[in-house]
Amino acid sequence: MPFLDWVNKNKAQQAAREVPYHLLKQEAVYGDAAENLLIQGDNLLALKALIPFYAGRVKCIFIDPPYNTQSAFSHYDDKLEHSQWLSMMYPRLVLMRDLLTEDGSIWVTIDDNEAHYLKALMDEVFGRKNFVSTVIWQKKHTRANDARWLSDNHDFVLCAAKNKSIWKRNLLSREGISDSGYSNPDNDPRGIWASGPCHAKTPNQKDIYEITTPAGRRIMPPPGTSWRFSERRFEELITDNRIYFGTKGTNVPRYKRFRTEVQDGLVPTTLWLRDDVGDNQEAKAEVKAFNSEEVFSTPKPERMMRQIIEIASNPNDFVLDSFLGSASSIAVAHKMNRRYIGIEMGDHAVTHCIPRLQKVIAGEQGGISAAVNWQGGGGFRFCTLGEAAFDEHGRINAAVKFATLAAFVWHFETGIPSLQLSPQPSPASGRGRSVVEGEGSNNTPLLGIHNGTAYYLLYNGILGDRKPSSGNVLTHAVLQAINDIFPHAGHKIIYGETTRLGAARLAAENITFKQIPYDVKMRG
Ligand SMILES: C[S@@+](CC[C@H](N)C(=O)[O-])C[C@H]1O[C@@H](n2cnc3c(N)ncnc32)[C@H](O)[C@@H]1O
Repeated sequence: MPFLDWVNKNKAQQAAREVPYHLLKQEAVYGDAAENLLIQGDNLLALKALIPFYAGRVKCIFIDPPYNTQSAFSHYDDKLEHSQWLSMMYPRLVLMRDLLTEDGSIWVTIDDNEAHYLKALMDEVFGRKNFVSTVIWQKKHTRANDARWLSDNHDFVLCAAKNKSIWKRNLLSREGISDSGYSNPDNDPRGIWASGPCHAKTPNQKDIYEITTPAGRRIMPPPGTSWRFSERRFEELITDNRIYFGTKGTNVPRYKRFRTEVQDGLVPTTLWLRDDVGDNQEAKAEVKAFNSEEVFSTPKPERMMRQIIEIASNPNDFVLDSFLGSASSIAVAHKMNRRYIGIEMGDHAVTHCIPRLQKVIAGEQGGISAAVNWQGGGGFRFCTLGEAAFDEHGRINAAVKFATLAAFVWHFETGIPSLQLSPQPSPASGRGRSVVEGEGSNNTPLLGIHNGTAYYLLYNGILGDRKPSSGNVLTHAVLQAINDIFPHAGHKIIYGETTRLGAARLAAENITFKQIPYDVKMRG
C-alpha cells in the first residue's frame, strides 16, 4: 500500500511510543463520582496516560481537531505548517486506535484543508480495509456570495472502524425524522407508504414479461432490466394492493412500502443535512446558552453528536473526544447515558466544558434534551495532567502510588487495561484500580491471574511493611505471606525491589522475579 510521506514522519511515528506516561490528578468531582472524566491537558500526554487503564475499552471516538485553516480562533490556534499538522495527528490517531474496542469506531470532522491527507493517514493507522465512509455534513445553508471560489457549505466526517469485519452500525431511531416521502394517495387502510421501482437493474431473463395496467396499458420492464418479481408474485402483490399504477391506473407500476412495515430504525446515509443533524448556526446558539459572554467559535451541533453516538455506541459504552472544544460531544454522551472521557488543553476546559456539563447534570433542556427526555443527574471528575510516572532514567516517580504502578505492570504483562482486571484479586474488594492517582483501589500484591500466571507487585510496602529495606523485598517471610493469603499453584511473576531468595528456591516455587524499576516497562 502506498503511504503518505512528510518531513519528520519518522519522529511522528515514534512519538506515540516515546511520549512519557503521566499521572492524572483529580481536581474536583461534579455530581456523582461517576466514571466520566474531563481532562485538561495536551491530548498526546492524556491519551497516553489513559492507555494502561482504557486500552481496548472505548467504543466510539469522536474528534473535531483543528482543521488547519490557517486561522487564529479566539480559543485556539489553527495555523500549523502542513507537515506539522500531519505529525500532530499521527501519534494521536495511533493512541486512539489502541484505546478502541475491537468493535469500536472513530469519527473525525474535517474540511478540504486536510481531509484527503487525513484519509491517507487514517488508512495507514487503521488499515485501508477498515475505512467505513466519508460523510458529507451540511454545515451551513446560506450561499457565501463573497466567496472567491466556491461557497463552502459542508464539512466531512471520516469514519474508520478498528476492525470493520466485526464493527456493526446501529440504526438511527426514526423519532424526530420526518415522514416526508410517505403519503397515502389511494387511502390504503394500512396507512402511509412510499414507493419504489418494480424493475431490477440486474435482469433475470425469466422475469421479463408484459404487465397490463388497470387502465389497459401494456408495459414491459425498461430496456436492460427485468421485473423484480416473478409473474405469479406480481399478481399476488396486485391482489394485495401493493402495486400502484397512479391515480388513473396508467403509470409504470411502483411497489408500495408501508411506513408501519419499515424496520424500526433507519440505515444511516453518508449525507447529513442540517434539517436532520443541525448546522454551525444551531451549534453556536447551543453554546451561547451556557456561555454568552465568550462564545466558542467552532462548536458542533448536539444533534450531529447524537447521530454519531447513536450509530456507534450503546448505553454505558465509553465515548471519547480528545479535541473537546466546548464539550458538545460529551454533553450529548452524558444525556445519552454513555460513559465518557473528554480532553481539552485550553482554558475553556474550565470556562466552557465544566459549566456546560454542570448544566447537563442539573437537567439542562437545550440541544437534544427534549428528544432524549433528559432529566438531569450523573457526574464527572475533572482532572489535570500530573507528573511523569518515570524519569528519563526509568526511575519511578515517588508520586506514583501502588495502584498506578500495578496498572502499568498488569497492562505491560497482559495487554489488558487494569480497570478490567480479571479475576479480581482476592480477597476481592470489588473496587477496580483507578485511573486517578492516589484514589482508593484494591491494594493487594496479587494483581491478577492471566493465562495461568499470577502477577504480584511488592511496592509501597503493600503487605504493611513500609520500610524500604524490607517492604518491597521478596523475602522468605513475604513469600510465606503471599502463599498463605493469595495462593497460586502455577507460574508466578513477582515484581519487587530485590529478592532474598536464591535461584533454586525461585525455580522450586515456579517464580520469575522481576526487579523494580528496571523491569517495569511500558507497552510501546
Ligand atoms: C474545533 S475545536 C473542537 C470543537 C468541539 N467539537 C465543539 O463542539 O465545541 C478543537 C479543539 O481542540 C483543542 N485542541 C487542539 N489541540 C489540542 C491538543 N493537543 N490537546 C488537547 N486539545 C487540543 C482546541 O483547544 C479546540 O478547543
